[in-house]
Amino acid sequence: MSTQKNLWLLLSIFSLNLAIITLASDPDPVQDFCIPNPILASMIKTHHTFHTILPCKNSSEVITNDFIFSNMKTSGNFSETGLAVMPANPTNFPGLNTLGMSFARTDIEIGGINPPHFHPRATELIHVIQGKVYSGFVDSNNKVFARILEQGEVMVFPRGLVHFMMNVGDEVVTLFGSFNSQNPGLQKIPSAVFGSGIDEELLQKAFGLSSKQIGTMKRKLDPKQER
Ligand SMILES: *[C@@H]1O[C@H](CO)[C@@H](O)[C@H](O)[C@H]1NC(C)=O
Ligand SMILES: *[C@@H]1O[C@H](CO)[C@@H](O)[C@H](O)[C@H]1NC(C)=O
Repeated sequence: MSTQKNLWLLLSIFSLNLAIITLASDPDPVQDFCIPNPILASMIKTHHTFHTILPCKNSSEVITNDFIFSNMKTSGNFSETGLAVMPANPTNFPGLNTLGMSFARTDIEIGGINPPHFHPRATELIHVIQGKVYSGFVDSNNKVFARILEQGEVMVFPRGLVHFMMNVGDEVVTLFGSFNSQNPGLQKIPSAVFGSGIDEELLQKAFGLSSKQIGTMKRKLDPKQER
């Protein structure tokens, strides 16, 4: 092949990659920022229609504090599994709206876990601030990539892949995660399977469990009982 053809091939592969990257992310902003208009946003919420991109307020009414989030100084409330997640997304941090990013603080008690879950719309990057955490993800060939992370280490969970964490140290784990979507979505595997109302016979056949065992899992994962 001539050099020109090689170059053409390279360029097409490159632009194809670019196209894929563009399709896999939130829409590009069309203005500097878009702080949700509280009145319009609450009207949308009242009508139970979920819009990722909320209508903007007049930029003359935008203030510095719209771009600052102060609720991450301490952990959230811990769940039964010893997990406290404090998310920052456009619903509680207006400045993020339309910027294609969001953030979360996660604390895990000693021995506590963040059960297997995934984010359908975002890759996540975590940074361990304190503690020792067994952390990893599973790829679509069911290969596990996991090890104990220590303070200061960073790990990436590719978009849409199941990941998990467990505090294996002797102090509370604190870590921060960032997402390349303002609305990453969260699907917890245990509750998606046993807490969602899938037909019980199907679950028995899929997992080789008795009706009683399924009942135990269902009670445990009933969303109404989740804290
Ligand atoms: C935004 O606010 C400014 C100043 O109060 C006003 O002049 C302008 O008309 C407003 N723009 C819109 C679209 O309401
Ligand atoms: C934690 O729980 C308390 C008491 O139920 C509640 O007042 C508080 O808002 C909760 N904090 C968070 C961050 O959810």
